[in-house]
Amino acid sequence: MTIRRLRLGLNIDHVATVRNARGGAHPDPLRAALLAKSAGVDSITAHLREDRRHIRDADVAQLMNDVGLPLNLEMAPTAEMVGIATKHAPHAVCLVPENREEITTEGGLEVAGLQDRLGPMVRQLMSAGCRVSLFIEADIAQLKAAAALGVPVVELHTGRYCEAKGASRSLELERIRSSAKEAALLGLECHAGHGLAFDNVKPIAAIPEIVELNIGHFLIGEAVFIGLKEAISEMRRLMDEAMAVS
Ligand code: PXP
Repeated sequence: MTIRRLRLGLNIDHVATVRNARGGAHPDPLRAALLAKSAGVDSITAHLREDRRHIRDADVAQLMNDVGLPLNLEMAPTAEMVGIATKHAPHAVCLVPENREEITTEGGLEVAGLQDRLGPMVRQLMSAGCRVSLFIEADIAQLKAAAALGVPVVELHTGRYCEAKGASRSLELERIRSSAKEAALLGLECHAGHGLAFDNVKPIAAIPEIVELNIGHFLIGEAVFIGLKEAISEMRRLMDEAMAVS
C-alpha cells in the first residue's frame, strides 16, 4: 500500500504585506520562511504581483537561495513576469490571473480562452526548468485546456468552496472532488488552495488525488494569535487526520 503524502506549502505574501505597511524590513518574509521550514512545511509559495504589494524582486532571490525549500512562485502570465521567472528559475511557477484592483486572486485562470497566449509562456518556463502549474477553477473545460497545454500540474481554486455555506458548500466540494479525479485521469498533478483554514481544510485534504495544499492568509493571520509554528503544526495535524480517514 502506498501512503499518500499531502504536501503543505506556506504562502508568505502577507508577512511581506505587513512589512511593506511601514516601508522597513520587519517582519522579514525570509525569517518566516525559515521558521516555517522548521515547522515542517514542504515548500514556500509567494506571489510576485505586478504592483509588488506583497513580495518584491529581491525577496524572490532570497527565498530561493537562503531557505532550502522549493519555491513556488505565483505570477500573472505577462512578459515581465516570465522574464523574472526564467532568470531565477524557481522550482515551480504557478500562473494566476491578476487584476490590479482585486484584493486577492478572485478566480481561476481562463485557460480555455487563452491557450494561444499561454502556450509560448508555458514552454519558456518549462524550458527554464520550472514546474508549471495553472491556477484554475474546478471545471472540466479548464482542466482539458490545461492538459492540452502540456503543463504537469494544476492548482484548483478552493475559494468558492470556502465561501459557500450549507448545501452550496457541498456542491462546491463535489465540483472540486470530481475535478481532482478528472485531473488525475488527464495525467495532471493536482494541487489546491485559496481560503483554506482550520475549519474547512479537512474535506479538501481528504480528496485522494490532491497532493499539495498552498495556504497563506489564514496561517499568517492565525500566527498573530498562536504563533507561526503552532499554526502550521495544527494545519498539518488536521491534514494528516483527514488523510487517515480518507
Ligand atoms: N494558491 C494560489 C494560486 C493563490 O493565488 C493563493 C493566494 O495568493 C493561495 C493559494 C493562498 O490563498 P490564501 O492566502 O487564501 O490561503
